[in-house]
Amino acid sequence: MSKQEEKISQLIAKRAEARLGGGEKAIEKQHQRGKYTARERIAMLLDEGSFEELDMFVTHRSTNFGMDKKHPLGDGVVTGFGTVEGRLIYVFAQDFTVLGGSLSETMAQKICKVMDMAMKMGAPVIGLNDSGGARIQEGINALAGYSEIFQRNILASGVIPQISAILGPCAGGAVYSPALTDFTIMTKGLSYMFLTGPTVVKTVTGEDVSQEDLGGASVHSTKSGVTHFAAESEEEAIAIVRKLLSYIPQNNLEETPLVACTDPIDRLEDKLNDIIPDSAKRSYDMYDVIGAIVDNGEFLEIQRDYAKNIIIGFARFNGQSVGIVANQPKVLAGVLDSNASRKAARFVRFCDAFNIPLVTLVDVPGFLPGTGQEYNGVILHGAKLLYAYGEATVPKVTVTLRKSYGGSHIVMSCKQLRGDVNYAWPSAEIAVMGAEGAVGVLYAKEAKTHENPAEFIKEKEEEYRELFANPYNAAKYGYIDDVIEPRNTRFRVIKALNMLATKKQTNPAKKHGNIPL
Ligand code: HXC
Repeated sequence: MSKQEEKISQLIAKRAEARLGGGEKAIEKQHQRGKYTARERIAMLLDEGSFEELDMFVTHRSTNFGMDKKHPLGDGVVTGFGTVEGRLIYVFAQDFTVLGGSLSETMAQKICKVMDMAMKMGAPVIGLNDSGGARIQEGINALAGYSEIFQRNILASGVIPQISAILGPCAGGAVYSPALTDFTIMTKGLSYMFLTGPTVVKTVTGEDVSQEDLGGASVHSTKSGVTHFAAESEEEAIAIVRKLLSYIPQNNLEETPLVACTDPIDRLEDKLNDIIPDSAKRSYDMYDVIGAIVDNGEFLEIQRDYAKNIIIGFARFNGQSVGIVANQPKVLAGVLDSNASRKAARFVRFCDAFNIPLVTLVDVPGFLPGTGQEYNGVILHGAKLLYAYGEATVPKVTVTLRKSYGGSHIVMSCKQLRGDVNYAWPSAEIAVMGAEGAVGVLYAKEAKTHENPAEFIKEKEEEYRELFANPYNAAKYGYIDDVIEPRNTRFRVIKALNMLATKKQTNPAKKHGNIPL
């Protein structure tokens, strides 16, 4: 064998060693847990054959606790770049088979390298997380490594899309990197996120709780809202990442991707003309409206099981991706509360940061009253949504289907918050409050002295409805641009979006605003 041949076979052997991560036994254990390895996950995520790995030969520099005797190649994370549907993305996947995927100084450097490249090239970063947290043997250097990553997450926010899949443990301060990214996907039963684990919880508070109940995918997708998706399997989690990418641009300077539209743009949906029940107390399902108007009924819902009184997600109109925000009259009558406001506000800001037009479907009776909400700071949370819409400069199309009352009317992308095109269905009721509340305030005293108070109240409510429970009062002032037939909604929204394609609007120059966090 020549010297060159020897060197090449050494390279091949080293590559094989690196690709084996923590070794065959550890890989088997990973599979037995029901999880894929870092490389298998990357293969699922990227277009076939597109992955280019970086830093395969990086090793840690620690000498404490016997670490001088083991130097796994790659140091527990696989990093590099590739394509999804032909578009460039950067990826890092923690390898639990190597020292539990724990984060060392050098692992952090590898992750930071791909984040820096993603920023330079203007492409998304996907993190596939599966890690025991800070590498205990490295102490403060591991913490410094996390901090370097967090700083990059912060600077990249709003510049390039960042998506985190949590496919195993994610504990302690490590949770903050995913929390800083735009979307988080967890796998049910296989992943968890918490600041302090069950043992510490028990010591400090005496509370007995399992990992799953403390920070599993179900908890974070229903109660905390920390995760945007709870996937049934790793395959589904990775498929969600790919789908999300299909709706969003590569960076904040690019337009949203356009796909060929196979659904007629002037498709009439007669069923929408009958969807609003005659009784104001009866509800209908907003998903039916969304499904009827978007391209091919396809809707990628985000945070489906959290604050279900508002619906958010991506869809397309004539092949152009949009963010949809819609009240859901079937849940809590579509009322806005703290969680719904926070959920929608963050989504509106994501769409605005990445040039994704907003389509808002309104049927909202108001904000949820009561001490529960007030003590929880609903004023600040509602203000977040107000701020997000008012700040957004992307095209904004609003359709009011039924109720649009009081503060919630303003918050849901009204004309004065720079709504570009505001349509209403003939069933819209745009007013300060509903008839019952209004008459109660205006005529309570008079009703008491009336010979037939119930009859009197009914009469006044009718009078109020006649005057205000319609779209024409708002249309009279130009606050509603047109009253449209429900079955034409798809076509009218598409026409509005086409018209708005060249929209240019800027906010006053400032360091940054002070959104009520
Ligand atoms: C070094 C670690 C490690 C860590 C796991 N390993 N976590 N090595 N530092 N943080 C190693 C284990 O020693 C083991 O090595 C291998 O990874 C696999 O771990 P197991 O324990 O065998 O796996 P499992 O039974 O599945 O348990 C997984 C686990 C557990 C629940 C994650 O390993 C664990 O509790 N780890 C510690 C978690 C933790 O407290 N991390 C610090 C969080 S605080 P061998 O050689 O036996 O295969 C933190 C602060 C971040 O991260 C702050 C940022 C600002």
